[in-house]
Amino acid sequence: MLSATSGAVRIGARRVAPRAASVVVAPMPKAPLGRITNITNITNIAQARSLSSTARLSYAINNTNPNPPLGEKNASNETPSRIGLIGARGYTGQALIDLLNAHPNMDLRHVSSRELNGQELKGYTKRKIIYENLSPEEVAQLDKDGKVDCWVMALPNGVCQPFVQALGQSSSLIIDLSADYRFDDAWGSYGLPELVQRSKIAQSTRISCPGCYATGSQLALAPILEHLGAAPATVFGVSGYSGAGTKPSPKNDVKLLHDNLMPYSLTGHIHEREISHHLGVPIAFIPHCSSWFRGISLTINIPLNKTMTSRDIRQIYQDRYAGEKLVKVVSEAPFVKSIQGKHGVEIGGFAVDSTGKRVVVCATIDNLNKGAATQCLQNMNLALGYGEYQGIPIE
Ligand SMILES: NC(=O)c1ccc[n+]([C@@H]2O[C@H](COP(=O)([O-])OP(=O)(O)OC[C@H]3O[C@@H](n4cnc5c(N)ncnc54)[C@H](OP(=O)(O)O)[C@@H]3O)[C@@H](O)[C@H]2O)c1
Repeated sequence: MLSATSGAVRIGARRVAPRAASVVVAPMPKAPLGRITNITNITNIAQARSLSSTARLSYAINNTNPNPPLGEKNASNETPSRIGLIGARGYTGQALIDLLNAHPNMDLRHVSSRELNGQELKGYTKRKIIYENLSPEEVAQLDKDGKVDCWVMALPNGVCQPFVQALGQSSSLIIDLSADYRFDDAWGSYGLPELVQRSKIAQSTRISCPGCYATGSQLALAPILEHLGAAPATVFGVSGYSGAGTKPSPKNDVKLLHDNLMPYSLTGHIHEREISHHLGVPIAFIPHCSSWFRGISLTINIPLNKTMTSRDIRQIYQDRYAGEKLVKVVSEAPFVKSIQGKHGVEIGGFAVDSTGKRVVVCATIDNLNKGAATQCLQNMNLALGYGEYQGIPIE
């Protein structure tokens, strides 16, 4: 069993987190498009490319990523944090419980579900926990009593506001997995550590986790934004049915999905807005659902503003993500079956057409891992003062 921590220790731990914030993030490149103020981008790529290969290797590792991982530099807190999880029965809640169970510093204390109220939590071995059906008032009381350091909301869109409101100005960390605060810059940080300044996330007490499609799409588009042509890039996305959550709907109806590919929300999907909002350029997103359980495949058609080669483009991505442990740049288009159960994103393909002014980039992501629970844990690690990748199985 893990030992208890006091609120004072937790707050103290948060207070030392800014130590990590002193890590220098390379200067922003000229913002090509719109409001990309939070999102870091490629820099000095041409300079990197003109170096000798040995010099370039070390340059790539050290300098081409303007927002390098904080990794162990973020580890300033040696005391476990107590976690409360609201929406624990769902797919993302369960994926997070598995990760917390293996994490040396996360001490799950409360799990809330209306359906499982009174039952014992299975699959968590660090202590015995019984599901509760916590109201916003009960959450606020537990928080006031100093029983929890971090609240995770794994609730459907539009449900968590009463909980967040009840917590008010609490100094506890709140991480929301829904879309409710993803467009609210005043609420807190948008928790996409590879693209948003990690030091900002590390200092936040309110973090909104990006959507699953939106994480994969932004990671697959951000490095090439500077070279985006006039027409919007189009993301063709296919998700396994766990992306639709546990509430029965056509999108998780296994019989309907068998031998089938289901197009839905073909314009105006919330992730179309999210990707466009955070990248600062309009992006077209056409989602589909299919019969596998977990994993997303994205095929992205990107018009370019100049002639480029596949090799140039792949190099830009490799440079941008140098040192990242959860983003892998590969040559071939990645397969969704290879990403299932994995914790990162794979980006590849980089097929350029005969004009040299259009590239197709492919990406895969496990929607429940880097698309939800793994990214949530990465953000928790950053904001609670642990090593950025602690408890995340890295390949
Ligand atoms: N699934 C994904 O791939 C994915 C990826 C990224 C982000 N997300 C986002 O993460 C959130 C959770 O997704 P999920 O797939 O885990 O959903 P889910 O499987 O449908 O689970 C939803 C959870 O919320 C609880 N819940 C539902 N309505 C509630 C209400 N009115 N009041 C209190 N609790 C309620 C449910 O438990 P009880 O009914 O037992 O209370 C359950 O634990 C969603 O906002 C989703 O958009 C999902």
